[in-house]
Amino acid sequence: MEVNGKPQRSIWVDEETSGHVQVIDQRHLPHEFVVENLKTLQDAAKAIREMHVRGAPLIGVTAAFGMYLASASFEKKDDYDARLLAAAQVLRETRPTAVNLFWAIEQQLKVLSHSTSGPERTAWLRENAIRLADEDAATCRRIGEHGLEMLEKLYAEKQEPLNILTHCNAGWLATVDYGTATAPMYLAHDKGIPLHIWVDETRPRNQGARLTAWELGQHGIPHTVIPDNTGGHLMQHGMVDLCIVGSDRTTRTGDVANKIGTYLKALAAHDNDVPFYVALPGSTFDWSLYDGLKEIPIETRSPDEVRLIQGKYRGELRSVLLTPENSPAINYGFDVTPSRLVTGLITERGICDASERGIAGLYPEFAPIA
Ligand code: MRU
Repeated sequence: MEVNGKPQRSIWVDEETSGHVQVIDQRHLPHEFVVENLKTLQDAAKAIREMHVRGAPLIGVTAAFGMYLASASFEKKDDYDARLLAAAQVLRETRPTAVNLFWAIEQQLKVLSHSTSGPERTAWLRENAIRLADEDAATCRRIGEHGLEMLEKLYAEKQEPLNILTHCNAGWLATVDYGTATAPMYLAHDKGIPLHIWVDETRPRNQGARLTAWELGQHGIPHTVIPDNTGGHLMQHGMVDLCIVGSDRTTRTGDVANKIGTYLKALAAHDNDVPFYVALPGSTFDWSLYDGLKEIPIETRSPDEVRLIQGKYRGELRSVLLTPENSPAINYGFDVTPSRLVTGLITERGICDASERGIAGLYPEFAPIA
């Protein structure tokens, strides 16, 4: 995508000057555009844990680069294999819910079956991380193309701007490029289909208000930020044509973990006959899980993310206390939307039902052997 008219990804290697892996430190958006160098495994782990980068696909790609950075630091050591496995464990422990993290680490651990030298392994890990980043961008583009077909049909029926509600940030900042939920929006807008996006602010970290609104604004897509509790009211009054959200982990049966509050939007959509779509790449399926509610680990983050609110005041980023000093708070990062509330899954291979059969139709290589 573009920032101020210049092409931009969420993670890249600065080939021309420093050679460093670079990311956008998303904690500063929308107020400041801060680029951060990731030079070590610890830098990558901290960036994921403390949400300088976030969003399931981007967490995965950042971890892949973290494995490369780790390898570069001990490539000549005799205990290379043990050190790489330890680095993988450091990265696994950064955040629990987005399965793309674990998927990307497994992709990188394949290097251990290469009987090459440490430096050759480092080079392989670097190339593979770049490949995973490029693949993520291409995958999201394909999600966008499939979603676009659906939006074209809806627009042909409605002949008026489509109102789409989204939750959290499943945009290009959450992936490498295009985003998942936003990819159909970007492609549709570029094709001249008039859209208006309802952007849930997404308490407590406000990824919608801070990141999705910023992204959409950069691309010129009309949007309105709404408090998280507004969606139901809008749906009751016919002001939402469809919802599109992302996912952090989806079971093989179609249960979807996504940012806390997604489930309530799906309930409201169901009650009002509003289609509720989830856009996700194949790397977001957890093929080992059947029951999302029982089996998907849900991250609990610091209560201070609820108690304090961050914004810009007189040119400076500040956190201010929102709650009474001593009120306890709890901060579940994600919830699970059961497959019965999901109209369809928009993937890089097409759109399918959120059911084991529907998903297996698109991903037959992961279907259980009969
Ligand atoms: O806690 P975050 O900001 O990492 O949560 C992100 C989300 O919930 C996104 O909707 C999800 O990762 C899909 S990203 C394409």
